[in-house]
Amino acid sequence: MTPNIDPHALAAELSGRHLIDGALVAARSGRSFAVVNPATGREIAQAAQGDAADVDNAVAAAARAQPAWAALPARKRGTLVSECARLLADHIEELGRLVALETGKALRTESRVEAGVVADALQFYGGLASELKGESVPFSPEMLTLTQREPIGVVGVIIPWNAPMMLMALKIAPALVAGNTVVVKSAEEAPLAVLRVCQILNQKLPPGVLNIVSGFGPECGAPLVQHPLVGKVTFTGSVETGRIIARAAGEKLIPVTLELGGKSPMIVMDDADLDKAVVGAVAGMRFTRQGQSCTAASRIFVHEKVHDAFVAALKARVDAMKMGDPLDEATDIGTLISRPQLDKVLGYIERGRAMKGAQALECSALPASETLREGLFVRPTIFTGVDNDCPLAQEEIFGPVTCVMRVRSGDEAIALANQSDFGLAATIWTSDLKTALNATKRLQAGFVQVNQNIVVQPGLSYGGVKQSGLGREASLEAMLDHFTHKKTVIFNMN
Ligand code: NAI
Ligand code: MG
Repeated sequence: MTPNIDPHALAAELSGRHLIDGALVAARSGRSFAVVNPATGREIAQAAQGDAADVDNAVAAAARAQPAWAALPARKRGTLVSECARLLADHIEELGRLVALETGKALRTESRVEAGVVADALQFYGGLASELKGESVPFSPEMLTLTQREPIGVVGVIIPWNAPMMLMALKIAPALVAGNTVVVKSAEEAPLAVLRVCQILNQKLPPGVLNIVSGFGPECGAPLVQHPLVGKVTFTGSVETGRIIARAAGEKLIPVTLELGGKSPMIVMDDADLDKAVVGAVAGMRFTRQGQSCTAASRIFVHEKVHDAFVAALKARVDAMKMGDPLDEATDIGTLISRPQLDKVLGYIERGRAMKGAQALECSALPASETLREGLFVRPTIFTGVDNDCPLAQEEIFGPVTCVMRVRSGDEAIALANQSDFGLAATIWTSDLKTALNATKRLQAGFVQVNQNIVVQPGLSYGGVKQSGLGREASLEAMLDHFTHKKTVIFNMN
């Protein structure tokens, strides 16, 4: 398959299709919906509007393919998944451009990077196939007692739009390597690049092993969760939808993995390397993605001694970033995903501004280009003078908005950091080992970093506590715990 680096042509080519049983097919109902470029407001493609009938076709194909897939030697499955990664390596530019077009994420800083991570995730899990091993248990000398890992069967994968290819890869790679087959339901805002990834992977994978349908949540996602042949659901998205999915899975008594929201704290102590902390805040807040990240460092607690210097340096750094056409190499910051998300974010900024004592520092500049007039751009906004208990500091905004709050001590910072319904990621910047150790013990989060702010990486278990979710992703443990079950086998030797 030759890469197509014209994203408009590729979007048109992928228009109106699911991928089921190895073939691109229209929705059974014949319906489709518009996919819009958020930088211009223009339609770039139609997506197949899936419903229960399409889901049923896809799940049936996955169920038919599963026994033969599971019967392959584990390393054979791993090799096929690694070969998929190699195929993707030729498509990084293509996929980067396509995801930039449909999501508005800047090509250089975000979209191309995401396309690279997809191949990396597949490569990582492809190499772990031989770790799907069991144990021998010293239960009785007269018995040979073993455990073995078995796949669950058909896995339903429901993904959001903010890093659609990467989040999909972190789910499908371990599911497939473990011997499951998969049906993905893409996010309605970003159905194209993930469809293309699945099309590329289907060159290597047997038909039915990896299927993807597009459509809306209640109409297409819900039937996937409810389908009797789906034995596990893994989801990334909002807390609200996570609850709906967990309830439906509870009714069926099937396991779920949930990666939900965050309001991730970052603590900057007075002994921190301030320049590095500022760079870390820009990366951690994911300003290049308009803050549309579940780990966005959207609550920054800064020691009062360095608060003002930190805010000034952060503002200067964000001011230097260029907002513009996502496909332009010079652009650092692209757009938000959709009009409803834009309205949500602007609503928070407006209410924040109206709060007593709050100060909103607007950074960077809106693009001047006439063609981007309808683009969903929001100026990155740093709030100061707000309290940790206000909605701005408690609710997930999912936009380029962060609150910098003044603290007098590390203890105060940790206490405030933990005053949140969420617990996904947390960071502390300090040069004191004791302060750092104390914080890593006490911070309530699934992913805690000292003096850096890297994003999810293959090999590092990733996931939340409290309302940020259930389960872990991106690691060996994630594959074993979430995509297999352990069978105990006993041979009586007498
Ligand atoms: P959402 O959670 O509603 O959508 C995510 C996925 O779930 C989409 O594929 C959607 O079609 C599907 N879905 C929706 N309702 C469903 C249902 N009843 N059954 C099965 N699947 C369903 O998130 P949305 O509406 O796109 O964004 C709303 C907010 O969620 C954002 O502002 C942000 O705060 C949060 N969010 C968090 C993400 C994260 O990475 N943790 C990603 C996307 C959104
Ligand atoms: Mg929703």
